[in-house]
Amino acid sequence: MENIGRRTFLPASVPALSAQTTRPIRVALIGTGHRGWIQIAVLKANPGYEIVALADPTPEFLDRAATLAPGAARYSDYRKLLAERKDLDAAIVITPNFLHAEVTIAALERGLDVLCEKPMATTVEDANRMAAAAAKSGKILYIGCQKRFFPTNLKMQELVAAGAIGKIEFVSANLFRGDWNPRSWQYTDPKTGVSTNWRYLTRTEGSALLEDGIHEVDALNWIINGRVRRVMATGGNNVYKDRETIDHAGLLIEYENGVKFTFDFCLFGQNAGPAGRRTVLIGNEGIMQPENGRIAVRKRTGGPAQYFDLKPLEPRVPEDPEAYHQLLAFAESVRTRKPPFVGPESGKLAVKIMLLAEKSVREHRVMDWNDLPA
Ligand SMILES: NC(=O)c1ccc[n+]([C@@H]2O[C@H](COP(=O)([O-])OP(=O)(O)OC[C@H]3O[C@@H](n4cnc5c(N)ncnc54)[C@H](O)[C@@H]3O)[C@@H](O)[C@H]2O)c1
Repeated sequence: MENIGRRTFLPASVPALSAQTTRPIRVALIGTGHRGWIQIAVLKANPGYEIVALADPTPEFLDRAATLAPGAARYSDYRKLLAERKDLDAAIVITPNFLHAEVTIAALERGLDVLCEKPMATTVEDANRMAAAAAKSGKILYIGCQKRFFPTNLKMQELVAAGAIGKIEFVSANLFRGDWNPRSWQYTDPKTGVSTNWRYLTRTEGSALLEDGIHEVDALNWIINGRVRRVMATGGNNVYKDRETIDHAGLLIEYENGVKFTFDFCLFGQNAGPAGRRTVLIGNEGIMQPENGRIAVRKRTGGPAQYFDLKPLEPRVPEDPEAYHQLLAFAESVRTRKPPFVGPESGKLAVKIMLLAEKSVREHRVMDWNDLPA
């Protein structure tokens, strides 16, 4: 099944984009599963983009994407899409995690700017190869950690940078959520023929900590703005015994400047209410946390809390506003060549922290930063 869309002609190349050109950015989506369908809705709400082509080997997932983006050409093999389509500016990579490196590097080498979903990669080596491919091609590589755009994260970053709690010293956060989507794509092992939800296998997911919790770790790393020295974690499979990947972990990330960041992750924490997602930042002068739609700051010396209003994301959009604003940021980088808000360095940092935590869980020891490659 090749190029089964309505456009059967081979496309001509399109004139280059710049800050001055007003034509939409022409994108291909590679991987059109559950996240791909959401990205299509978000792209369609954004006049700065045109979805030109879709690639996915699973017919029912590709079919659904094609009904959402009816003008786009369809490909079962992304390599054929990249070889044939001369009319693209960018690719959005939304495959299972283990394919991010292969697909992203192919798209960069083909001369496209790339927005790659989180996690950047499943190994540090792959993240390094992706960063090198971006540098060599001179193309933009944006990593899809869109939750930096949560208004709470934007405000906390601004307040910490302005010294509202003095020097940041201790961070405590958690993500308690439900299990992975049982309808995720099934990976078929070529040796055994056994098919398994890709999020249950280390080979295809990398780590449960790469799949979620990485948003919080990326955003808080950005706010802490320090170099990591050591990572320690404990975790395992207390509830879901049907898989290789873990269902809970407690992490302690130690920074060179003395900051400690504890992060608790649990996949059997559905219906956690307000405890599901919690962040507290403590500095040498005060403590800060999201509270009833504002950021509360209390000084160590006492006195009443000071409340800071959040700035709503403008324009306001109904579906996944953070993903919409990520697309605006990616578009700005594509048009102006400005370095991405979340680039390869940040993407790799979050991956490396989570892989060290996974290794710590497996090997029952504290991990130094150089326990994985630089
Ligand atoms: N940023 C976020 O908030 C967010 C949310 C959900 C998922 N994600 C990420 O998006 C990615 C996809 O997740 P999902 O929920 O859509 O998974 P999914 O299982 O629903 O879909 C995965 C899709 O990839 C396709 N695929 C498999 N091999 C492929 C190949 N060789 N070429 C092209 N496509 C291929 C599958 O057929 C399927 O359609 C993951 O990396 C995930 O971490 C990000």
